[in-house]
Amino acid sequence: MYSLARELLFKLSPETSHELSIDLIGAGGRLGLNGLLTKAPTSLPVNVMGLQFANPVGLAAGLDKNGDAIDGFAQLGFGFVEIGTVTPRPQPGNPKPRLFRLPEAEAVINRMGFNNHGVDHLLERVKAAKFKGVLGINIGKNFDTPVERAVDDYLACLDKVYAHASYVTVNVSSPNTPGLRSLQFGDSLKELLEALRRRQEDLAQEHGKRVPLAIKIAPDMSDEETALVVSALLGADMDAVIATNTTLSREGVEGLAHGDEAGGLSGAPVRDKSTHIVKVLAGELSGRLPIIAVGGITEGKHAAEKIAAGASLVQIYSGFIYKGPALIREAVDAIAALRK
Ligand SMILES: Cc1cc2nc3c(=O)[nH]c(=O)nc-3n(C[C@H](O)[C@H](O)[C@H](O)COP(=O)(O)O)c2cc1C
Repeated sequence: MYSLARELLFKLSPETSHELSIDLIGAGGRLGLNGLLTKAPTSLPVNVMGLQFANPVGLAAGLDKNGDAIDGFAQLGFGFVEIGTVTPRPQPGNPKPRLFRLPEAEAVINRMGFNNHGVDHLLERVKAAKFKGVLGINIGKNFDTPVERAVDDYLACLDKVYAHASYVTVNVSSPNTPGLRSLQFGDSLKELLEALRRRQEDLAQEHGKRVPLAIKIAPDMSDEETALVVSALLGADMDAVIATNTTLSREGVEGLAHGDEAGGLSGAPVRDKSTHIVKVLAGELSGRLPIIAVGGITEGKHAAEKIAAGASLVQIYSGFIYKGPALIREAVDAIAALRK
């Protein structure tokens, strides 16, 4: 059934089809209809970061940036839903066109630039949602906040979303906000993580609950750089790492239409790069922090590969565009088969 929907959606511009899909998934969710569109995944509960997940396959950040379709995505069978990236103030993002499909490679290139309606709008949507499962809220900085003051934006978002999130993701890995990725390294990373951890402690006191913090990293890192990130995460007592965001590499899409567009590449071409980072993280972490793996899952077996590489949970974005909701169940089944 999704192949027909995809044929129609792919006739529209990527951004129009994205907006229409969010509207339809959101409306279906409000009417409680989305469960009828696809067979529910097998129940495969997992406990990670002290949270109980219905299954280990989640929606990756960036598809529902404003939290407009939380119930809709949950009803499609995702074991958890991550919304955002949200910034303190609304912002339009980069000029269009800024989203490109590369169907021959099952890939997407985007330079959206954190277009979003701001954290207050997102919180209204979260409060209106009925979903009682695990909800991640992914936070970032406004494009016009200087990178030296980025910590203020992350803290402002953390303060606001804390009471409403199951976990909070700190996105320091989007390639489309100038300077953002520099926060993944050295003293900038340590200072950011320390500030977040201190605020997490204060907020835990205030709200009587400890909301885990996950850090989302890029795939464009050497093994040495990944090891340094691990020591910073452990040093600051973070709760999880999400690997990975999109890549700046164009390996696998050279010569294809739109292959040379600026932005982050996702989907099949980022799969191996991303799984490699998961393996390096797993080796460095030895189980001390859970890994949430994302990047290039377009078939169930890719989700199983990520778990075998050391991840506890996976997320999907581009694969959902190409394969639709059936991919969720396929991924859950492939992960369940690993346990047999
Ligand atoms: C159009 C688009 C927008 C995205 N926006 C965000 C975002 O706002 N925040 C974020 O952390 N990741 C964002 N991502 C990255 C995805 O969450 C994911 O990490 C990446 O696409 C790799 O997974 P995939 O190959 O399954 O797409 C975006 C990806 C795409 C394709």
